Amino acid sequence: MLKTTPLHGKFGVIVHDVDLREVTREHLFGEIRQLFEEHSALLFPAQQISDADHTRLAELFGPLENREAMASGRDVPFEVSPVSNEKGEGSVTAAESLHTLNLQANMLWHTDSTFLPVPALVNLLTATVLPSRGGETELASTRAGWAEMPQAMRDKLKDAVIWHRLSHSRKKISPELGAMPVMNRWPDRPWKAIWPNPVTGEEALYIASHSFAIEGMGLGEGEALIDEAIAFCTRPEAVYSHKWNVGDVLIWDERAVLHRGRPWPYEEPRTLRSICCSATENDGLAAVRVV
Ligand code: OGA
Ligand code: MN
Repeated sequence: MLKTTPLHGKFGVIVHDVDLREVTREHLFGEIRQLFEEHSALLFPAQQISDADHTRLAELFGPLENREAMASGRDVPFEVSPVSNEKGEGSVTAAESLHTLNLQANMLWHTDSTFLPVPALVNLLTATVLPSRGGETELASTRAGWAEMPQAMRDKLKDAVIWHRLSHSRKKISPELGAMPVMNRWPDRPWKAIWPNPVTGEEALYIASHSFAIEGMGLGEGEALIDEAIAFCTRPEAVYSHKWNVGDVLIWDERAVLHRGRPWPYEEPRTLRSICCSATENDGLAAVRVV
């Protein structure tokens, strides 16, 4: 039995006394996966994982998300994604650069990859370089949010289809960022608004900063409802704010959790390393697909 303590009153657990380098499909992964289905977010404090360890762990959850391969339709080698302002040799990207602005777009409450042809199941994030202050990563459960939402809002969302577009979130930060070709390479993507967990049956709201419209509603009305629903799910008492220590591994269910980064002094380096896995039919993908 894994030793756990609550991460937040509404969701998540801290998993103690596990060395993630030792996890295999036969050893501990079954229990970890069960905790993931039940609690939506897992924190493994003070790990020491290399990119190879990180990749091996992620592969237990599902197919590694490889956006370059997805975009080109070719077999592009997988790489762990740095979430970083480091340029090497101790320098950082300029605060006003498009690169830093893109990191700032992560500070809008979002779910990763809702705009991709195949959405993500999970993000496994670890920290390698941290600033002297700020740079927290925050999580909020859209399972808890959906369960607690006022009935009038639930009625508008329960059968809704939400449309997603990467450039929508990027243009909120900067029109120039939103106009970059790399932000406009995915066709607009619709998903049903409610993603039931196939193991526990619990429903969660599937929404993001990338959400730009609701099927059958005017653009203004749809966007207002999207903003209202995200604001409800992320009210201060519903948020877990993770103050990183180097080595921490934070894993969350992209089907049921909104997240965002927090600002830090941009002249200081900050590097997280992220791997997302794509959702598969076993993860309940059919329930959100719009036929
Ligand atoms: C991510 C992300 C936020 C952060 O890795 O997907 O949104 O804290 N990170 O940098
Ligand atoms: Mn993200």
